Amino acid sequence: MKNTVSTLLKQKQSGDKITMLTAYDYTTAKIMDECGVNSILIGDSLGMVMLGYENTLPVTMEDMIHHTAAVSRGAVNTFVVADMPFMSYQVSVEQAVINAGRLIKEGGANAVKLEGGADVCDVIKAIVKASIPVVAHLGLTPQSVNAFGGFKVQGKSLEAARTLIADALKIQEAGACMVVLEGIPAKLADIITKKLTIPTIGIGAGNGCDGQVLVYQDMLGLTIGHTAKFVKRFAEAGELMRKGISDYIDETKSGVFPAEEHTYKIDDEVIAEIIKEEGLE
Ligand code: KIV
Repeated sequence: MKNTVSTLLKQKQSGDKITMLTAYDYTTAKIMDECGVNSILIGDSLGMVMLGYENTLPVTMEDMIHHTAAVSRGAVNTFVVADMPFMSYQVSVEQAVINAGRLIKEGGANAVKLEGGADVCDVIKAIVKASIPVVAHLGLTPQSVNAFGGFKVQGKSLEAARTLIADALKIQEAGACMVVLEGIPAKLADIITKKLTIPTIGIGAGNGCDGQVLVYQDMLGLTIGHTAKFVKRFAEAGELMRKGISDYIDETKSGVFPAEEHTYKIDDEVIAEIIKEEGLE
C-alpha cells in the first residue's frame, strides 16, 4: 500500500511508529521499498555522504533533482521526501515555490522538506498553497551550521526550548504535514510531539517522537570516521564491502576469477577455424 500524507497521519494517531531512512539512488530505494520503510528522505546530507563535501551547503537544486528522480524510480510504496537545498528557498517565496515544484515535477517526490521555524512560515504557506506537502525541520538544522558555530544540540536553555515549541506550533499552523526534530533533548521532543497534531520524526531526539529517521550510511556501518551519539549501527555493511572488494582483488590477481561458470562458450569447430586462420596452431 502506498504511504501518503494521510496514512502517515493515521500512524501518529494510532501510535504506529513511522520509519524513515535517507536514500540517494535507485538500488537503495528499491531495497528500502521492498523492506517496507514508510518514507524515504533524499536528504541534502547527500552532499556529505555521497559527494564528500564537509557540510550540506554546496548542494544544488540540480544535485537534488538528479538523486530524487533516481530514488523515485525505485520507491513504489514509500513516501518520498526531497530536501530543498541551501539557498533554494531563502531568497524569495516565489523562488521557493518554483524550486519545490521542480522537486515534484522533475524529481517525482511526494513532498519537500525545508529547515526553519517562524522565519520560513510564509514559504511553507506558499508551497502548501501550490498543493505540495511540506515537511518542516527544526532543532539542529544543518544548513545553519555556520550560524550555530558547529553541529550542536539545540533547545537546551529555557528560552531556546520555548522558541522550539513556538516554532513547532507555527510551522504546523502554516500547513506543514510533518516535522523532523533533529538534535534536541528527548524530553523536549516528547512535549512537542504531544502538542502537535502532525507527526514528528526524530533524529537524535529520543523515542517519544512519532517516527525516526537515520542516514542510511550511518545505520548500516558505511560511514567513514565520526558518527553522532544518536546513531545506532544496525549492520556492518562497510565490513562486508571491504571483504568483497579484497576477495575480488585477490581472486583476479591469482586467476581464480573468472572461473568456468562465469565464461561464455563457443563451438570447438568455430574456434579451431579461427586458430587456423590466425596461424596460432
Ligand atoms: O539531510 C538529511 O539527511 C536530513 C536528515 C538528517 C533528517 O535532513
